[in-house]
Amino acid sequence: MAVRETETEQTLREAARRQDGWFKLGRRWRKSVLVAHIVFAGAWIGIDVMVAVLVLTGKFGSSDEVRGLAYETLATFVVWPMLVTGLLTLITGLVLGLGTRWGLVRYWWVAIKLVLNLVLCTLILVALRPGMDEIGAYGRDLPGGAPEPAGVTNLFFPPAVSLTTLTLATVLAVAKPWGRIRRSGRPRASR
Ligand code: HEM
Repeated sequence: MAVRETETEQTLREAARRQDGWFKLGRRWRKSVLVAHIVFAGAWIGIDVMVAVLVLTGKFGSSDEVRGLAYETLATFVVWPMLVTGLLTLITGLVLGLGTRWGLVRYWWVAIKLVLNLVLCTLILVALRPGMDEIGAYGRDLPGGAPEPAGVTNLFFPPAVSLTTLTLATVLAVAKPWGRIRRSGRPRASR
């Protein structure tokens, strides 16, 4: 005999479906996207470490040739990989947020990571990228005794800020602190 759904059950089911949103990742897809997300975030941190090494080598390298090569490498190879891994982390994070119960602005830890990710990607484009041509030219001319441009001292900030922020984002992802942003509706089943 078919069991009829009560009006209350129907209302609750409707509310749950509305909260679930329009797109839900299956178990396998969720795991695959999560792996990609962690790999991209890890690669981004790795590139930041490389930037820190190049900046330190540029400043304190053993000879002008080594220092110049470090600045040239920094200017030529680093900005775009950094931006690409940042955007891939963002995209996979957006898919995970939208496709799971976490949402994008439902939990503090996800919303804060979203803001941090957006701020870092913007800083790469707005603050780091524009000075790179000058740094590359300085790297090429350094063995010939070129004067140090003002932007060189500021190069310590990008890896320091980025590594601190990405470490914070990783702690937020693992600890998932502070719970929901807005408590409304019934609690949702975890996946
Ligand atoms: C800022 C750089 C980011 C880093 C370093 C980062 C790191 C991580 C890590 C390590 C995890 C795995 C945590 C665990 O399984 O215990 C994770 C999961 C997650 N991240 Fe990110 N993330 C970043 C950006 C984002 C962004 C921008 C979003 C969304 C807007 C996001 C959404 C998520 C979600 C929803 C999960 C949980 C997925 C699940 O368990 O189903 N992340 N993140």
